[in-house]
Amino acid sequence: MGAGNSDRQMRMGVFVQAAGHHVAGWRHPDAIPGGPDIALMRHIAATAERGKFDMFFLADNFATGYAEHPSSIGKFEPLTLLSVLSAHTTHLGLAATASTTYSEPYHVARAFASLDHLSGGRAAWNVVTSSYPKNGAVFGREHPSHADRYAIAGEFVEACLQLWDSWDDGAFVMDKAAGTFVRPGSLHVPDFHGTYFTITGGLNLPRSPQGHPVIIQAGSSAPGQALAARTAEVVFTAQNSLTDAQDFYRGLKAQLAQYKRREDELKIMPGFMPIIGKDEAEAKALFAALNRNLDMKQANTVLSDRLGTDMSRFDLDGPVPELPESDHLKSRALLLLETARREGLTLRELCYRVAASRGHLMVVGSPMQVADTMELWFREGAADGFNLMPPFFPGQFDAFVDQVVPILQERGLFRREYEGATLRDNLGLARPASRYAAAMESAAE
Ligand SMILES: Cc1cc2nc3c(=O)[nH]c(=O)nc-3n(C[C@H](O)[C@H](O)[C@H](O)COP(=O)(O)O)c2cc1C
Repeated sequence: MGAGNSDRQMRMGVFVQAAGHHVAGWRHPDAIPGGPDIALMRHIAATAERGKFDMFFLADNFATGYAEHPSSIGKFEPLTLLSVLSAHTTHLGLAATASTTYSEPYHVARAFASLDHLSGGRAAWNVVTSSYPKNGAVFGREHPSHADRYAIAGEFVEACLQLWDSWDDGAFVMDKAAGTFVRPGSLHVPDFHGTYFTITGGLNLPRSPQGHPVIIQAGSSAPGQALAARTAEVVFTAQNSLTDAQDFYRGLKAQLAQYKRREDELKIMPGFMPIIGKDEAEAKALFAALNRNLDMKQANTVLSDRLGTDMSRFDLDGPVPELPESDHLKSRALLLLETARREGLTLRELCYRVAASRGHLMVVGSPMQVADTMELWFREGAADGFNLMPPFFPGQFDAFVDQVVPILQERGLFRREYEGATLRDNLGLARPASRYAAAMESAAE
């Protein structure tokens, strides 16, 4: 079937979790265990840029939410880390997660616009509603329901978009001779009155290099997809079968038309964990070694958190039991259960999968096998690119950049040089005009 033209290029992000994505990844001899380690973060950013990656991506949760995964604790606050990395990189996109459930639009709009200025147009915001109920603990608030979280998120993003258009492009003329700092009439103070937020003040920062930061969305439920279709420019998703991924891809792209958007205005990037060895046998041995280091009780807790129910009451070597859909993780919980059913996994095997990639696509194989799967998904309408999830850093990420990227480049699937200076340039996304630009143009005519 093939999606798009033959010179279409893969988009690539690296999903950075300091202690690796595999729960036991940090224990591998080639792993640096993580913790808040700026040298490791700089190494990963430099490697990503050497590999011509589009983005360096940081997830985020609060408190010790799911401390069973070592990458969820002992980590930097994403925006402060990306601010530092902006000074050590030149082309790499810098993507951070910020929660619409536990933040204010003004703070988020300001921080990401600031990062966009600092980095010369390389900022991206991953919009999440913070699905884990434990997130509420540090705010002294009740965790809102799935439906409420998405209603809040829709308003939150709209408020940010208005804040980012507070000033016209080129408003800050700073004309010393005339004594004009900003052009008169160039400020548009939002007049936003929603159910959850009221904003009647503007942003104290010029419009940013990308117009506004690239918007990423990572929920796959129906309201998550609706929010993405309306506002997102990149979508992260967890898929692990080609047909499911194709259905998701087609279904989400089909929703764009109702918002007058073209299909190429939204890039779908499933998470992808390659476990790389020089051949399949070595990769399998690596996966087995990672699993041997796994504490099954810990792995079971990670799975229980994902499914929203205590799984330790079931037999590890029995089949995965039928479970009701949970409110806090609709699409992801269902995906795991479907995978287990489709592949006839025992509970122990499902624990291994979740401890490794948390339900994202996995390939255990040689660099060629890894590249083959990526090409298949890319060509067969399942992905516009990938959000790479190495089992541990830096060893397995270095292996990807040194051994898989050259194969993708050789096949004409991935860039050899960055196309432009901003993240939008590299992702092939247009710079959005201010909502006031059309009115300004017609007034000037
Ligand atoms: C690659 C990826 C990264 C994510 N990062 C975060 C994150 O940092 N924080 C968070 O609260 N949720 C994160 N999520 C979860 C989603 O935002 C979403 O909450 C979850 O999929 C449940 O929403 P849904 O019911 O719409 O699918 C991520 C999901 C994916 C696929």
